[in-house]
Amino acid sequence: PAAIVIDTDPGVDDAMAILYALADPEIELLGLTTVFGNVPEPVATRNALQLALLAGAPALPVAAGAARPRLQPPRPFATDVHGADGLGTAVLPPLPPGRLPDPRPAARFLAETCAARPGEVTIVAVGPLTNLAAALDVHPAIARQARGVIVMGGALRQKGNVTPFAEANIHQDPHAAAAVFAAPWAVTLVGLDVTERVILTAADLAPMVARSPRCGALLAEAAEFYFAFHKASEGLDGCHLHDPTAVIAALRPELFRTAVAPVEVTVRGPEAGRTREAPEAAARPLTLCLGVDAPAVRARFLEILHAGRLP
Ligand code: BDR
Ligand code: CA
Repeated sequence: PAAIVIDTDPGVDDAMAILYALADPEIELLGLTTVFGNVPEPVATRNALQLALLAGAPALPVAAGAARPRLQPPRPFATDVHGADGLGTAVLPPLPPGRLPDPRPAARFLAETCAARPGEVTIVAVGPLTNLAAALDVHPAIARQARGVIVMGGALRQKGNVTPFAEANIHQDPHAAAAVFAAPWAVTLVGLDVTERVILTAADLAPMVARSPRCGALLAEAAEFYFAFHKASEGLDGCHLHDPTAVIAALRPELFRTAVAPVEVTVRGPEAGRTREAPEAAARPLTLCLGVDAPAVRARFLEILHAGRLP
């Protein structure tokens, strides 16, 4: 199986990605690291701990990370998209006393997890890239010890989702994104160009509710809020599967059409958070996902969540 750590700001689609990773027998989930983004960091950390508990992984390591961007003032959280506590109106089970985050900060957890198995661990980053940038600063060896980094973020050949230019994860901390894209590791960008093509509907979750009642009911309730946001903002009956698509990219790269080019991040001004292919730049080339077999990604997601492996 693919050894991965998910760096996350749960978030409804983050929750989908986490439950997917716990259910997929081809994934060895080594832990979660948390970051501000959709919600404040303490809420993200609590959600991650509670999701692991709900999914029957009460000892999964969860390491708490950054509470704010590296350099710029914080942007608003995405409570309009994900709900006040990140999971719509859903309520997660309380944590037993003594269930705490890993004592290490996220950046150190990432570095040590990659160092323990050099060349094997893929980081799937589905929130702002602040923890990854911190890890590169403090533990630069992570760049050669990680197998690679898959980033859900950016909008290359289409408009953004928080501003006309920027996708949310990059917009929250563009300086961190620029640092992560410049580091000497293999970065794959799974941006809105592909994630907005992969759609999940309410009906898709019904078999999961039947076969994995605990996790299915949680996702169905959380998703209701997320669906309502998509309906109101773009008339969509369903939601985009942003973060799960990045996890699936770690397993099934052949489902994506890619190009290789450096990417420039706009760090300030009205276009802050913009990601642009910059073939002329002397920067490191990234692997950019530009096309996707959306039915196949969606089918994989549903096959795993419908299999009944989660409680
Ligand atoms: C990304 O932003 C967050 O709101 C989602 O969880 C996803 O990671 C999509 O732009
Ligand atoms: Ca996210």
